Amino acid sequence: MIVEELKVINYRNYEQMHLKFHPRLNVFIGDNAQGKTNLLEAIYLCSAGKSFRANRDQEMINMIKKQAYVQVKLKKVIGNVNIEVRLNMDRKKDVKVNQIPLIKIGELLGNLNVVLFSPEDLKLVKEGPSERRKFMDREISQISTKYYYTLSQYNKILQHRNKLLKYNRGKILDLEVWNEQLATAGAWLIFYRRNFIKKISILAKLMHRKITESAETLEIIYEANVKVKEEDEVNHIKEKILQRFKEDLNIDKQRGLTTVGPHRDDMILKINGLDVKNYGSQGQQRTAVLSLKLAELELVKSEVGEYPILLLDDVMSELDLKRQGYLINNLRNVQTFITTTMMDHIKNLNPEDRNIYTVSKGQIC
Ligand SMILES: Nc1ncnc2c1ncn2[C@@H]1O[C@H](COP(=O)(O)OP(=O)(O)O)[C@@H](O)[C@H]1O
Ligand SMILES: [Mg+2]
Repeated sequence: MIVEELKVINYRNYEQMHLKFHPRLNVFIGDNAQGKTNLLEAIYLCSAGKSFRANRDQEMINMIKKQAYVQVKLKKVIGNVNIEVRLNMDRKKDVKVNQIPLIKIGELLGNLNVVLFSPEDLKLVKEGPSERRKFMDREISQISTKYYYTLSQYNKILQHRNKLLKYNRGKILDLEVWNEQLATAGAWLIFYRRNFIKKISILAKLMHRKITESAETLEIIYEANVKVKEEDEVNHIKEKILQRFKEDLNIDKQRGLTTVGPHRDDMILKINGLDVKNYGSQGQQRTAVLSLKLAELELVKSEVGEYPILLLDDVMSELDLKRQGYLINNLRNVQTFITTTMMDHIKNLNPEDRNIYTVSKGQIC
């Protein structure tokens, strides 16, 4: 898919901006704090319905305004799609797809598929399991709305169960109803995650092999809190969760929270058999994330039928020349948006292959 146009009004440090894009490569270049990432964020907003860095939607509205507007015009295999997001200071955002207002934000997912790669993504290998769960949740949600809705349901039920455990510590509790509902939603999450990791691990292994010229083997392993087999069906997984609820009931009661389920899942990345988190060099960690991101492009392509767009926020300077070249030259079929402070990695590109936008104080010059 291709983002043909972006329009923003009163968005971050932009008053009004209307950009038409190149189908292949678009580069936003400029000093720090000029508004480069803001443009990627605006595109991302039309994909996920929220920012990848702001905690509140209102942060994206220009400081002295009450409303912000973002519009993206997309060209897809199925036809053109027009996405509009209006952010309001005093109430929830309004989102429209092809002029039709959406009732739930979940309806937006899958219209614009995006793979984002920023320095923050190193957290994926460096930090705790919650970063990797966030990764799984975000990526599976954009290819499956069922996953997105099941996840929000799961989180609600989990809160109820935890509240009951917390405020009734030590007492005899009737958790049956919650157990049943939580296990049903949880089983679906595990089912989707297991299948997702199976697919992405194959693709990431291939990518990593190419990038490292066969020197390294990358493995991605699903470390599920409730162990499941490759062939387990959803019902099977549900039974396993219920069984674990029974076994760990006393622990849950003592701790006053639920210790069993996919909210405790993790994902392990290994290079040549060793955990990248603890044993990988900085360079290996970066390359592992790069392989994972490139694998996502292929995964979305195989699930959705066309490539997502790729947003590269400030990652070029973090990669060595070989990896930079790899990124730019191997993505001929993927529309790519790059932010950078330096001209270095793009000056060799054929001018017909890209647009360059110089960003300065919320203006393009
Ligand atoms: N809500 C807002 N209203 C006005 N300006 C904002 C808002 N949020 C961020 N900014 C400004 O945007 C700039 C940062 O933009 P950003 O895209 O992150 O920069 P960079 O070019 O380094 O990627 C800063 O100058 C900041 O003051
Ligand atoms: Mg930036």
